Amino acid sequence: MKFIRLAAALVVLAVVAPLADAQTVADKELAALKELYRRPVPQPIDNKEFVELGRELFFSPQLSASGNTACASCHFPQLGYGVTDAKSKNDAGKLTSRKSQPLIGIGYAGSAPVGWDGKSATLEDQAMASIATGSMSLQGTEKPVKTEAIVDRFKNDAAFVAKFEKVMPGAAMGIDALVKAVAAYERTLEPGVAPFDRWVAGDEQAISGPAKRGFVLFNGKANCGPCHSGWRFTDDNFHDIGTTTMDEGRGRIVKDDPLMKFAFKTPTLRSVHLRPPYMHNASAATLEDVIRHYEKGGIDRPSRSPLMTAFELTDQERQDLIAFLNTLDGQNATAQAQ
Ligand code: HEC
Ligand code: HEC
Repeated sequence: MKFIRLAAALVVLAVVAPLADAQTVADKELAALKELYRRPVPQPIDNKEFVELGRELFFSPQLSASGNTACASCHFPQLGYGVTDAKSKNDAGKLTSRKSQPLIGIGYAGSAPVGWDGKSATLEDQAMASIATGSMSLQGTEKPVKTEAIVDRFKNDAAFVAKFEKVMPGAAMGIDALVKAVAAYERTLEPGVAPFDRWVAGDEQAISGPAKRGFVLFNGKANCGPCHSGWRFTDDNFHDIGTTTMDEGRGRIVKDDPLMKFAFKTPTLRSVHLRPPYMHNASAATLEDVIRHYEKGGIDRPSRSPLMTAFELTDQERQDLIAFLNTLDGQNATAQAQ
């Protein structure tokens, strides 16, 4: 009897011990994975008054040719400084050719080119292009407005001039100074702390079981992690993910790299569930549509990223992945930056 009990105990041990080991290995792997997505401490803002000037300009319609359009007209703070419109109406009343992009976290993008196709080298260049010839301008209409005339509006605003002179004593107020301020503001658009961040920081209750499974899928079977990498969920790089599009994206700018044809900048997934429809051309209406696109692998063409390979998720797995994506939006995104 004794022997049988001992044997039974040994059998139990033999079965349980490796299981326990496997458990700790899985725990360690998950912990290591979470570490890759841990957010850094917020970047210090050393020129607060200059940034505040930039904030004022970002929300000011006076920065546009007509005086009716602000940067914020197509970059809504509550949507991660993005939009839910497939296309936005520009200052000339025409629709933009692509969907507006979210700006949260862009201060961490380093020297990554700016725009879906990376047309602008810096945030300053992008703001300048937008004002001089782009969506803030009346270029191509009968009444284009010179940037000097736009700057004059601010020169005639005594309160603005007083602030400008306080922050940049002796500096000339020109379009260069104004776009520098706008870009300085953009660099402070810190994503709000999301439930996902609280989970990574150690709060096991911060996100649901399905969301945790979704995070594992994101980095495993669904293989999203290589491009949507790090705490902002973007590699700030350009890839062709095989969507149906006539737009050559990065390929218009970079002609000698076959992989850049139909390539677009990987968008941040911070607060992504607030911003349907998805992609540069709004070709996916919901997150489920996006996931189904990745499952199929997109159009097989020479430029398609080698990372795009078909796979199949169960309904449950698809829902888990969506549950995870829903944990990436934080409250008070800008409150932190101020
Ligand atoms: C009429 C709508 C509209 C207005 C107004 C507008 N934008 Fe945009 N913004 C867009 C669109 C559309 C894109 C994508 C452009 C592209 O790559 O084709 C974009 C892209 C950007 C990007 C690139 C983000 C990235 O991740 O690469 C930045 C930065 C930006 N806008 C800042 C601004 C600033 C600053 C202003 C004001 C000076 C402004 N925008 C005004 C619609 C607008
Ligand atoms: C090869 C790199 C790559 C891989 C792998 C990848 N993505 Fe993307 N993702 C991108 C690029 C690039 C875009 C923008 C494409 C476009 O606009 O045409 C994008 C767009 C998206 C969007 C739309 C965001 C928006 O603001 O419009 C979502 C959501 C998304 N990806 C989620 C995922 C998920 C989930 C996975 C895994 C199943 C995944 N991605 C795998 C590169 C990638």
